[in-house]
Amino acid sequence: MHNSQNRTPYLDELISYVKNKTLAFHTPGHQQGKGAPKKFADFIGMKALEADITQILGMDDIHQPRGIIKEAQELAAEAYGADYSYFLINGSSSGNQAMILSVCNPGDEIIMPRNAHKSATGALILSGVRPVYIQPEFDPEMHVDHTISTEKLEKTLKKHPNAKAVFVVSPTYYGATADLRTIAKLSHKYGKAFLVDEAWGPHLHFHPDLPVSAMDAGANLSVNSTHKLISGFSQSSMLHLKGKRVDRGRLEGVLKIFLSTSPCSLLVASLDVARMQMATHGRELLTKTIALANHAREEINKIPGLKVFGKEIIGKPGVHDFDSTRLPITAKELGYTGYEVEKILRRHYNIQIEMSDLFNVVALITIGHSEKEIKKLIDVFKKFASSKFKNGSEKSHLFLKRLKKAVELPPHPPQRMTPREAFVAEFKTLNFKDSAGRICSEIVTPYPPGIPILCPGEEITREIIDYLKMELEAGIKIQGPVDPSMKTIRVVR
Ligand SMILES: Cc1ncc(COP(=O)(O)O)c(C=O)c1O
Repeated sequence: MHNSQNRTPYLDELISYVKNKTLAFHTPGHQQGKGAPKKFADFIGMKALEADITQILGMDDIHQPRGIIKEAQELAAEAYGADYSYFLINGSSSGNQAMILSVCNPGDEIIMPRNAHKSATGALILSGVRPVYIQPEFDPEMHVDHTISTEKLEKTLKKHPNAKAVFVVSPTYYGATADLRTIAKLSHKYGKAFLVDEAWGPHLHFHPDLPVSAMDAGANLSVNSTHKLISGFSQSSMLHLKGKRVDRGRLEGVLKIFLSTSPCSLLVASLDVARMQMATHGRELLTKTIALANHAREEINKIPGLKVFGKEIIGKPGVHDFDSTRLPITAKELGYTGYEVEKILRRHYNIQIEMSDLFNVVALITIGHSEKEIKKLIDVFKKFASSKFKNGSEKSHLFLKRLKKAVELPPHPPQRMTPREAFVAEFKTLNFKDSAGRICSEIVTPYPPGIPILCPGEEITREIIDYLKMELEAGIKIQGPVDPSMKTIRVVR
């Protein structure tokens, strides 16, 4: 990578502004910490507060970058192999919305997997775009959906010649990646823009042993949550553009709608340094990370009753490659739900993993971990597997025993209206258990992973009602509906 990648133009200007002790009469109102409550200032430190500024003279304008943000974004584009990169300060959620709105108009079709993140559903509501869903490939062993198959995609492309774009999620929360190169070729063969929600892949481009990144595979737009796996502060993401299929002017116009006019300088600086760190030291940092993750996987796999998934899942339907820094772990043979494992690890061992579902937990191993911490993780799993947890786990044991038969995800429900039509339609509140056959007008999302089980416009099926009842009993958390306990639901009147 070019020497210029050592530069951090945005951070340097921020440091210089703070050092100059310029007398400030600008936002934010805490005036670089002087007006902040002492409790907060003592906790986060004055330095962080002094550095919390926004778009003043010299700090550039994220809506029309001409100076240090422009320079920092150009460095990011060079580092990621994009033509243009854009800093996002409202996460990949805003990136997904910007991607979809920049290539589709109201009424247009977009081909996308049904297990896309809820921010993509949000984009459909905002835009009035019609989703043509492809069912992702279900893995009965892990009990999760992976990515879409290229065969299903080609069939869909033939059936929907007017669709404007192909949108794909890769990697998934569980680390599976799609066959991006083939999908890029297919999308382009049929004249479509290719968009990738690569929220879980800000590191992929920087190591040859990781799956190919969307930009390298031929995507036209991709979004990375820089905060998820590398050094960005929470909410800081990037959107990359390559090629001529997407109109850059339209994309930049859409971004101006989604971006705050007061970007937090800490977020922007963290994007500047995360890029610098990956471009200059990414390979060595990730070599260590991959080795730590593989070591943890090997050791935890030796513990009876536990299973950590890894590269052996490559080749299953919907798994073209696998990000080995991810540790999807199941303790179902010991009788624990993933929700239980998460709680036990936190309450008894002070370890917090990234997420849990009915059968799995997912631990992220990143550039921030050391050998000592990985050893602790392995030791804790050994203790966990040989302990009997009386509170809660008994319930879980019974719960999984009660399930007995293999649990399948319910079939994705039929789509009766577009997400926007159903979201803005007049609604009626019904008891959820009595709502079969009605059209849902809310987004119903287990969080994490943030994949809606019901999108507005879909028919509520008996299978979904029964499945959600079982998941709620197991401990799933629902986000989105007015009544997250799911006793009631809003349906189209
Ligand atoms: C696949 C996927 N896309 C997008 C997002 C949204 O990312 P962010 O939290 O950066 O807004 C998430 C968040 O978990 C995600 O899992």
